[in-house]
Amino acid sequence: MRVMLVIGARPQIIKSAPVVHEASKDSDVEFQIVHTGQHYDFEMSKIFFNELDLSSPTTNLGVGSGSHAWQTGKMMIELEKTISKSDPDVVLVPGDTNSTLAGALASIKLHVPVAHIEAGARSYNMRMPEEINRRLTDHCSEVLFAVSENCVQNLLKEGIPEDQIHLVGDTMYDALLKHTSGVSGRRVLESLGLSANEYVVLTVHRPENVDDVESLKRVIKAVIELEELTIVFPVHPRTLKRLKEGDLLKRLKKTKHVKLVDPVGYHGMLQLVKNARMVFTDSGGLQKEAFWLRTFCVTLRERTEWVETVELGANVLVGSDRDRIVGKARECLAINSLESMLKALKNPFGGGDASVKIIEVLKEVC
Ligand code: UD1
Ligand code: UDP
Repeated sequence: MRVMLVIGARPQIIKSAPVVHEASKDSDVEFQIVHTGQHYDFEMSKIFFNELDLSSPTTNLGVGSGSHAWQTGKMMIELEKTISKSDPDVVLVPGDTNSTLAGALASIKLHVPVAHIEAGARSYNMRMPEEINRRLTDHCSEVLFAVSENCVQNLLKEGIPEDQIHLVGDTMYDALLKHTSGVSGRRVLESLGLSANEYVVLTVHRPENVDDVESLKRVIKAVIELEELTIVFPVHPRTLKRLKEGDLLKRLKKTKHVKLVDPVGYHGMLQLVKNARMVFTDSGGLQKEAFWLRTFCVTLRERTEWVETVELGANVLVGSDRDRIVGKARECLAINSLESMLKALKNPFGGGDASVKIIEVLKEVC
């Protein structure tokens, strides 16, 4: 079986790594990694190949940054050539980025079956580019790998035939189980001068939060107001650009309780989250990682695709409203039983063997 994996952005490298490793154990599976070049900085791409022990992509299309139509279109043009030349049995696309959608559209138009990792996630907010990407990708896919029962139900509601849906669990959980004690991560607290349980982690990069200057200002004001907390803030490149444009970077740099850092590697991030008192984020992946690492999550969004974490009480949605962010953070920090409650929760996202199941299903159906 010849599989072409199409990836391009940070979380896709993490989601794919366990599948690549599983495939490498099987001599019947030939794997090819195509990187679209959506993310290209060392700390947004190569560092994850290194830390997750992945060989370099077979091909890097070098597409880079641009508007949605430009970026997706350029990826499709390049992918059409690459897929035609290689003629794989299946094109595997993880997640919900423009690279995911471009991979799915380019393949289906060439009549090459598409398999989607993380199918069925829905925030029901079509203003998020990711929601558009995941819906369209699901409807292009012949094989849909869902991470939870809720995702399966979302797909069934949209009329996807049941025999195309495979509940396998989350490959991000497979990755996390393997890498939580990753060597390079252990140094991160020390190098940032942090002690366990004495800081919170903040990440923010969704266009709805950072491209709208008023929304970004509200988040930053909340961060500044929470002066009783040490806040570690690995800054995504999109956010860095916006902080500079909005004249907010200088202000944050002067704020003593905020530690601005470049994006950190995967091992470092897992350690930061595991040892934090709380996570503030608008990331999809981090909401689940916080859940698995038993750290409470305050999500800077009005809706989430990972509703399970909210329903179980491990995550709360606060949008970008300054008072809600500050209020919820203070309220949750005051709850003594939070840690024991989080530890008792059952994981709705599989058993850490999603990648094994994915390879089994692909071998069966492709
Ligand atoms: C993309 C995904 C998002 C995912 C995120 C992961 C889409 C629509 N969005 O958002 O779902 O959560 O990746 O981090 O696919 N930039 C750099 N260096 C890089 C990459 C980007 O400086 O290596 C800057 C560029 O100015 C670029 C901006 O970041 O314009 C945004 O990058 P882009 O890949 O378009 O979107 P993300 O916000 O990263
Ligand atoms: N991540 C990381 N370093 C960072 C920020 C995030 O390693 O500085 C990891 C994080 O642990 C998770 C993934 O990147 O595994 C999430 O990616 P991101 O938040 O960029 O995208 P999303 O999940 O929102 O699509």
